[in-house]
Amino acid sequence: MKIAIVGATGEVGRMMMTCLEERSIKLEALDLYATAKSQGTMLYYLDHPIKVQELTEESLLKHYDYVFFAAGGGVARSFAQIAMDSSELVIDNSSAFRRDERIPLVVPQINADLLSGYQGLVANPNCSTIQMVLPLAVLDREYGLKKVIVSTYQAVSGSGYKGIQTLQSQRQGSKLKGVYPEIIDQNVIPQIGVFLDNGYSNEEEKMHFETRKILRKEHIAISATTVRVPVLYGHSLSVYAEFERAIELSEAAEKLSQADAIKYHENSYITPLSIGTSNASHVCRLRYGVDSFSLNFWNVGHNVRIGAAANAINIMCAHAIQAGKISSSV
Ligand SMILES: NC(=O)c1ccc[n+]([C@@H]2O[C@H](COP(=O)([O-])OP(=O)(O)OC[C@H]3O[C@@H](n4cnc5c(N)ncnc54)[C@H](OP(=O)(O)O)[C@@H]3O)[C@@H](O)[C@H]2O)c1
Repeated sequence: MKIAIVGATGEVGRMMMTCLEERSIKLEALDLYATAKSQGTMLYYLDHPIKVQELTEESLLKHYDYVFFAAGGGVARSFAQIAMDSSELVIDNSSAFRRDERIPLVVPQINADLLSGYQGLVANPNCSTIQMVLPLAVLDREYGLKKVIVSTYQAVSGSGYKGIQTLQSQRQGSKLKGVYPEIIDQNVIPQIGVFLDNGYSNEEEKMHFETRKILRKEHIAISATTVRVPVLYGHSLSVYAEFERAIELSEAAEKLSQADAIKYHENSYITPLSIGTSNASHVCRLRYGVDSFSLNFWNVGHNVRIGAAANAINIMCAHAIQAGKISSSV
């Protein structure tokens, strides 16, 4: 397969290369694009050196099987159409196209059916949303999801490499706020993105809209509070969910522990530091909420892996298997 990664020098772009390596996917070509500043930077795929090229319109006139965009919404809006016209599938990590009704928003364990015979652009959902909808989809199938109230504790790598640089430089004494509205070191900031007229931030609205779209349930009541914390990698979520049918706690735990891409922890809890390089959505501290129709759980996922790169590669693999480009054992 021929693949291009736009934004290859960023957090998500680099992790996509790692995830491709981990899946041992054989590639005929892997072209890496970023800004002029990164032109000539050497990155390695399975020990093969690949020079990063400056992204231009001409770069994307080549035919690729899959073009990944991990360079923000502006770049996707400017360049994705060119890639769509000449390549088979574009997978975009930004929020630019997620609300478009014609664009599939895919977590393959939940809605891979949307990829069947599809060409064009697929949107990769928001990081916190991906890790949360994986367990919610399992519980929804059993008990009928009605309402979600979630608070997030999101790592600085969710803001890309500049978020990491900001925290690290503050830890070394810098008093500059960097990419955040307040100092993030030794702090907790209840703002991710910009605030809208209704009092929610656009990051919170992403969780509202995307959860309903992925689960194909417009009527779900959902309220998110998204918070930045001084953690390098790994988003944590405190999730409260209400259902139509009464829940047997041990049965819910059993369903979660059997589900693909979920790691259920029965008698222990998990933290961002302890997930390591896992691509799973980790669920622990499962308990009843206010009654037997509701649940609380703690949910941790690696934001750059399951929250971005690993899900993007899963989308590619699901599409490539359906299209007969790779075998189902990958
Ligand atoms: N980080 C996460 O946890 C996460 C999770 C889900 C979704 N996302 C989304 O994924 C995308 C990438 O995020 P990230 O965290 O990887 O950001 P990042 O670390 O800041 O990396 C951004 C990448 O985009 C490249 N880029 C920026 N402007 C460009 C342009 N005009 N032309 C070509 N390349 C350009 C940068 O190249 P240079 O290095 O040359 O500047 C870099 O490779 C964003 O849309 C983000 O919202 C991120």
